[in-house]
Amino acid sequence: MKGRPYHSGLKNSGIVVPDLVFRSGTTILPNGIALVHDISTGTLPEAFSECDAIYSEMPWRAGYDEFNNRAGMNNAIPFNEFINKVNAVIAQLEIPIFLVWSKTLKNRVAPDAYIQPVTLHKQPAVIFAWNVDGFDLPFEWPDYVQAICKKYNCIGDWCCGYGSTAYYAHQEKKRTVASDVNRNCINYLADESQGWK
Ligand SMILES: C[S@@+](CC[C@H](N)C(=O)[O-])C[C@H]1O[C@@H](n2cnc3c(N)ncnc32)[C@H](O)[C@@H]1O
Repeated sequence: MKGRPYHSGLKNSGIVVPDLVFRSGTTILPNGIALVHDISTGTLPEAFSECDAIYSEMPWRAGYDEFNNRAGMNNAIPFNEFINKVNAVIAQLEIPIFLVWSKTLKNRVAPDAYIQPVTLHKQPAVIFAWNVDGFDLPFEWPDYVQAICKKYNCIGDWCCGYGSTAYYAHQEKKRTVASDVNRNCINYLADESQGWK
């Protein structure tokens, strides 16, 4: 990454990025596509059908409203309903899914998940995983992101933020499908990715 500050919503960050999202809501990355999409609709765009795994760092309860504000989501559903909608998407998929989230959601996310404790930006978190036969991922970020990107060929991230998943997929010469409800994030990612080596 170019080393810009981490700030998924870009609010008050002083970062100005060009609008690179086409009218269709999608844009091109060096290793795939990125699009504006609200996962709380309980749906996944057709573009994700290319993916053989999903990896996503999810919004936590404490940051959920702030993310929605940054994205200009005036009618966002409550966090508990958001989880239900994500569960509905999980239930539609048969590919491996890895979601980094709070362990407090253990009884709320779709059943049958493997759970592995990890750290995310040095904070305790867990990876919930579905459709995998057990797994043993590294404990630290970004080691586990890199391990997943090494193993699969096209990694989807439905809450992509600044696009670290897309970046690590690119480092492993893998494809990606990245989406976020915040158009600024998709613009940032599209702009930033032009400089990826
Ligand atoms: C923890 S951040 C992801 C960080 C990301 N891995 C990165 O590299 O920046 C969570 C992201 O979820 C996004 N998000 C929140 N609600 C969403 C929704 N309903 N649909 C899609 N994305 C959403 C936020 O805009 C935010 O970018």
